[in-house]
Amino acid sequence: MTSPAPLVSRRARAARIARVALGALALLYVGTCTWFDRKRPSVTWSDEATTAFDPHWPAGFLWGTATAAHQVEGGNTHNDWSRFERGAGHVANGDVSGRAADHWNRVAEDVALMQALGANAYRFSLEWSRLEPIEGGWDDAAWNHYAAELTALRAAHIEPVVTLLHFTLPLWLADRGGLTAPDFPAQFARFAAEAARRLGGQVTWWCTINEPQVAMYFGYVEGTWPPARKDNAQAVAAFDGMLRAHAQAAAALRTIDRDAKIGLASNMIAFEPAHRWNLLEQAITSIVTDNFNWAFYDSIRDGRRQFAMPGFPTLDEPAPELKGTIDWIGINYYRRNLVRFAPGAPGMVSIGNGPGPLSDAGVEIYPQGLLSLLREGARRYHLPVVVTENGVADSSGRHRPAYVRTHAWAARQAIADGVDLRGFFHWSLMDNFEWAEGYRARFGLYALDRATMARTPAAGAEEFRRLAPAR
Ligand code: FCB
Repeated sequence: MTSPAPLVSRRARAARIARVALGALALLYVGTCTWFDRKRPSVTWSDEATTAFDPHWPAGFLWGTATAAHQVEGGNTHNDWSRFERGAGHVANGDVSGRAADHWNRVAEDVALMQALGANAYRFSLEWSRLEPIEGGWDDAAWNHYAAELTALRAAHIEPVVTLLHFTLPLWLADRGGLTAPDFPAQFARFAAEAARRLGGQVTWWCTINEPQVAMYFGYVEGTWPPARKDNAQAVAAFDGMLRAHAQAAAALRTIDRDAKIGLASNMIAFEPAHRWNLLEQAITSIVTDNFNWAFYDSIRDGRRQFAMPGFPTLDEPAPELKGTIDWIGINYYRRNLVRFAPGAPGMVSIGNGPGPLSDAGVEIYPQGLLSLLREGARRYHLPVVVTENGVADSSGRHRPAYVRTHAWAARQAIADGVDLRGFFHWSLMDNFEWAEGYRARFGLYALDRATMARTPAAGAEEFRRLAPAR
């Protein structure tokens, strides 16, 4: 017969063990949340500092605006976007790119606008479908046009940063699978080689691909951009295609243009958990950050093509040829997204704007996010960084002056923190064809009158000029 005393002590021991286990679990919980938090340290921000600051950019700092061929040139008829935009319901208000900002015919005027802004750099893209309207047939006049544009920029002491692929693909390539076509990487490398041969003498800064994750997401997950697919396996195939294409193009650029400084421009969202003590929010924030923001650059750093998101096939393949293919990382920054526990939503989370002011494009204005991303990019890759795009859709002009100033402050603060930031490009020089948003989203430092093509300084232009590095 067991005596009551040992029974009591057994119960007491069990209770003690339960307490210790609960304590350990709580510690593990807090520890894991803190670990996630440390990966994304918060930013201290003072409104006075951002108002009064005087930039003092480092010598040689690139300060300019960014555009993309299809959005500004006009008359691009041989690419997948020109076909897609004519489809019913594809672009807001039924807009088509058409004459766009007629930049193709106004290069001299637009270079003068850059000078008036105090810019010393300009990021723009080559329109592959103009240069190679039919497979294998180079258009010499189009190449000469870009060579002349580069000459005009150089004469104005404006450093070009040239993007090879900013969303638009020649129809001949789109029609056989575009980013997922087996020969896309080889074709893109052939185009990069031709660009290096023809223009390399005038270009140092090359940007292979603009926003791979955005092309993947809108084109293959949401299906709201060409090729309008909704197929996660194809999305990963497109991502993989862009990694291979980048590797081959970078190799071609390096062989032909020995001074090339090669990078790319990746869209980054400042994802944050809505509550720092919610482990689910923390974990999802970490997964979306790693995959949406960094997967392309991580793949290059590790020499492995990688993508791993729940709901998508996992990509994890050795690719040593990716290593060393970039000399700098480009960050396009526009917004913050909060990750929130939402029991009714798919995956039990919703991802959306935080409480800050919204731009006309409906995204939260949050300059602190730029600072955290710049720090994170520098910490992850130990490479120079360029803000390859940053701007705001703001037709009333009430946000842009402060937007320009606070984001420039974030950039300046990143430099003070030790980030090797080499340049900052405002999106955009003038209002232009904003993809599925058409012409209603106005991002320009110059307002565009599409009837007359007149450009007039918009809100923010003066602030941009004031912050320009002294010549
Ligand atoms: C970026 C794109 C650019 C422009 C801006 C507003 O994601 O790279 O072409 O559309 O957004």
